[in-house]
Amino acid sequence: MADWKTRSLEHLWYCCAQMKDYEEFPPLHVTRATGPYIVLADGTRLIDGISSWWCKTLGHAHPRLTAALCEQSRHVEHVMLAHMATDPVVELSSKLAGIFPGLTKVFFGGDGSTAVEISVKMSFQAQRNAGHTRRTRIVSLENGYHGETQLCAALSDVSAYQGGLLPAFAPFPKLSGLPYVAGSSDPLWADCSPRWEAILNQLEEVADELCAVVVEPVLQGAAGMRVYSADFLRRLRVWTRAHHVHLIADEILTGFGRTGTLMACQHADVAPDFACLSKGLTGGYLPMSAVVTSEEIYAAFYFDHEEGKAFNHSNTYAGNALAAAVAVEAIRLYREPSFLGRVKELEGELRPAMAEVSEATGVLGPIRGIGGVVASDLQMPAAAPGRRLGFRVYKEAAKRGALVRPIGDTIYWLPPLTLEPPVLDDLKQITIAAIRAAIA
Ligand SMILES: Cc1ncc(COP(=O)(O)O)c(C=O)c1O
Repeated sequence: MADWKTRSLEHLWYCCAQMKDYEEFPPLHVTRATGPYIVLADGTRLIDGISSWWCKTLGHAHPRLTAALCEQSRHVEHVMLAHMATDPVVELSSKLAGIFPGLTKVFFGGDGSTAVEISVKMSFQAQRNAGHTRRTRIVSLENGYHGETQLCAALSDVSAYQGGLLPAFAPFPKLSGLPYVAGSSDPLWADCSPRWEAILNQLEEVADELCAVVVEPVLQGAAGMRVYSADFLRRLRVWTRAHHVHLIADEILTGFGRTGTLMACQHADVAPDFACLSKGLTGGYLPMSAVVTSEEIYAAFYFDHEEGKAFNHSNTYAGNALAAAVAVEAIRLYREPSFLGRVKELEGELRPAMAEVSEATGVLGPIRGIGGVVASDLQMPAAAPGRRLGFRVYKEAAKRGALVRPIGDTIYWLPPLTLEPPVLDDLKQITIAAIRAAIA
């Protein structure tokens, strides 16, 4: 039989990759994963420093999630979610209904991008059903990221994921001048008044035609783990409510503890009109997403059939019973006090650890972070895009036993929220060695 490198490249086209890179950096052969570790065929263990694209909140192979999956597989694995439902999906909907104050209706989708699409379509149709036919414009934030489908790419502002597509569609307008912070102790976090006026002007320009504002609350992941003021989110909620504009919170990355609270909207003490959930929803076990919304939005679709106001969206795997059973168990775990307690401790450990990396290597800029995320940018003359230093760090870290996959030249850790201090220490040492090797 051909070797692993040959077989793994013969037919498989990997995500988000220049496939030519694999000539000199072949795919890793994963055969197992457990806790914070990804285990390769030769027995090498890699610390999952980015939670496998940000979804492994509880680590790999969590015994309670695996048990829930196996148990459900003995009963029913999947039926369509129309005019019938399974026990786990009903239980999950009632659990999700309690998460955001006032949001008690739950619509299921297949993955994160789909949830964003559902929320925007629902918002648009709710405005129209309510007679607000002029409200057709959607605004999102500079440096936002909302997924890979065309609508999501138009909402996003990260050129690496949309550059080639831009001529094919009109991107949505972006609010700019956001009050970015290094963390929650930054004065702008609690009071962004110096920046608000300029943002308000942008909102007022489109106020009468605005349908919804779409945000990643507090933390913008794909743009390089940027953190912005909770006060900005609070003000935006007040403004959108006063102007009958929907607020859509994309909590796909931030939900389920990542920023230190169960949902990132809690930092601003607000509930949106729509919240999009995925990734940690199933502890990263199975694809599933949900859009949680209010009775008021639900009522905007609730009429006699003849009026043609139903929300006619369906995804084949919406509400999949296996995913729902795992999600129910994951939410039980998230609700245990020890879960957010550990995230609080982790928050206190991540920043000093990244500071040590900065000190040891001398090439990092200011550190930013919140909850279970910390980031810093490689800042040195050699960090020109063509040098792909971030990519080199990735390769060097993989050789040494960690999955650290910088975004461009942004080095970040976004590990399972259950990560223990000794493993963080290993992650730190590997990151230091990888950066040193990359810049040598
Ligand atoms: C904030 C945010 N929204 C949406 C998505 C898209 O989710 P998916 O990849 O499941 O479509 C992501 C994925 O990283 C994300 O971080």
